Amino acid sequence: MPVYQKRTYHLASESAVPDYLERWEAHIATLAEFNVVTHGFSRVPGNPKAVVALVSFQDGDDPRTVIRDYMESEGFRRDMAGFDMSQIERVDTLLLDPVDTVEELSTVGGESHSRPAPGGSARLAGKVALITGGARGQGEAEARRFAREGAIVYLCDLLAEQGEKVAEEIRMAGGKAHFKVLDVTDPAQWNRVISEVEAETGRLDILINNAGTNVRHSLTATSREAWDTILDVNLTGQFLGMQACAPLMERTGGGSIINIGSTAGIMGHPVAAYSSSKWGVRGMTKSAAIDLAAKGIRVNAMHPGVVDTPMMDSGSTLFKSLVSMTALGRAADADEMASAALFLASDDSSFVTGIDLPVDGGFSELAAYGEIWNRINS
Ligand SMILES: NC(=O)c1ccc[n+]([C@@H]2O[C@H](COP(=O)([O-])OP(=O)(O)OC[C@H]3O[C@@H](n4cnc5c(N)ncnc54)[C@H](O)[C@@H]3O)[C@@H](O)[C@H]2O)c1
Repeated sequence: MPVYQKRTYHLASESAVPDYLERWEAHIATLAEFNVVTHGFSRVPGNPKAVVALVSFQDGDDPRTVIRDYMESEGFRRDMAGFDMSQIERVDTLLLDPVDTVEELSTVGGESHSRPAPGGSARLAGKVALITGGARGQGEAEARRFAREGAIVYLCDLLAEQGEKVAEEIRMAGGKAHFKVLDVTDPAQWNRVISEVEAETGRLDILINNAGTNVRHSLTATSREAWDTILDVNLTGQFLGMQACAPLMERTGGGSIINIGSTAGIMGHPVAAYSSSKWGVRGMTKSAAIDLAAKGIRVNAMHPGVVDTPMMDSGSTLFKSLVSMTALGRAADADEMASAALFLASDDSSFVTGIDLPVDGGFSELAAYGEIWNRINS
C-alpha cells in the first residue's frame, strides 16, 4: 500500500503564496519522476501564509529519502529558479492512514493538518504508537488516550477479541487504531507486526512495552515453569520489542520507548520472579537508553503503583493493603498511567531519557514512614 502524506508549507510572507502555488504545477511533473503522486494542493483557509499538498509515495519508498533526492535534483532547482528559498520557514508533514485517505482528499486545504479524535489536544499528532498488552487494563487506557491525542495506535495483545473491540471503539470515536495479535515472547511475531506497521504507515514513533503477567508465589514455591513464563513476558518480551522496533524508529528519525516496570522493581518485594523481572526492566532500560540515544531514541521506565486493572483483584487483601499504604490513599485509575505515559511518549519529554518514573501515589518513597506516622498519630 502506498504511503500518503499531507505536507504543509509555512511561508514567511503572504505575498510568496501565489508564486509558490504556481510552482506546485511544475513540482507535480518533477515529483512524478520520483514516483511521488500529487493528489491535490491549495491554500490553507484561515492561514494566508500556508500551502498544503497531499502526496503519496510508492510501496516501500521512504518519504524522507525520496524528498531529499528530489530536493537535490536538477528538476527541483529548475522548478524553484528565482524563488527565494528562505521564504519557506517550515514544512509540517503528516502521514495519513490509508483507510482514511479518501476522507483526507476531501479536506486538503482544510485549516488543520492533524485530526486528533475529539477530546484530545493533538500532542501526538502524526505519530504512530505501538502498545503491547493493549487489549485491557493500562495498555487499553494508553491506546484510547494516545488516539485522542492524534496518534495512529497499534494495540497488540494475545486477547484478539478484546483487542479488536477496543480498536473498533477508538475508531468509532474518531481515532485511528488497529489491533494486531502479538505474543511478545516470540521474535517472529514481532518481526511480522513491525513489517505490517511499516507497510501501513511507514514509521514508528512510540513503543510502550506494557504487556505483563504475574503469579504470586513465594521464592520456594515458584516452579521453574512459572519463573520462565514471568521472565519471558515481563523482561524478554520488552527486550525483543526494543530490538524489533528500534530500526524502524531510527528510520522514522527517532522515537520514544516506555518500558513498564513496577514498584516491585524499585523496592524489596516478596514475589521473586515478578520482582526480578521488574528490576531487570530498570537495568535494561538504562542500557537501551545509552545504546539508542545516538539514533534519536529515548528509553524510559515507568513504574505503576497499585492500579485498578484486571491484574489486581480490587476485593483482595493485597489490593486493600497496598491502597492503605499509598500516600494518596487510593488506587490509580488506568487513565492516570496513560497521562504519565503520554508525557514520556510526547515531545514534552524531549530531553528525558534513561529515567525511572514511579507513578505510584507516593507508595515507593513514602510508605514506610507514612505508615509509622499514621500509627504514631492514630
Ligand atoms: N495493575 C497494577 O497494579 C500494576 C502495578 C505495577 C505494574 N503493573 C504492570 O503494568 C503493566 C500492565 O498491567 P495491567 O495492570 O494493565 O494488567 P492487565 O493484566 O490488565 O494487562 C496486561 C495485558 O498484557 C497482556 N499480555 C500478557 N502476556 C502477554 C504476551 N505474552 N503477549 C502479549 N500480551 C500479553 C494481557 O493479555 C493483558 O491484556 C504490566 O507490565 C504490569 O506488570 C501493574
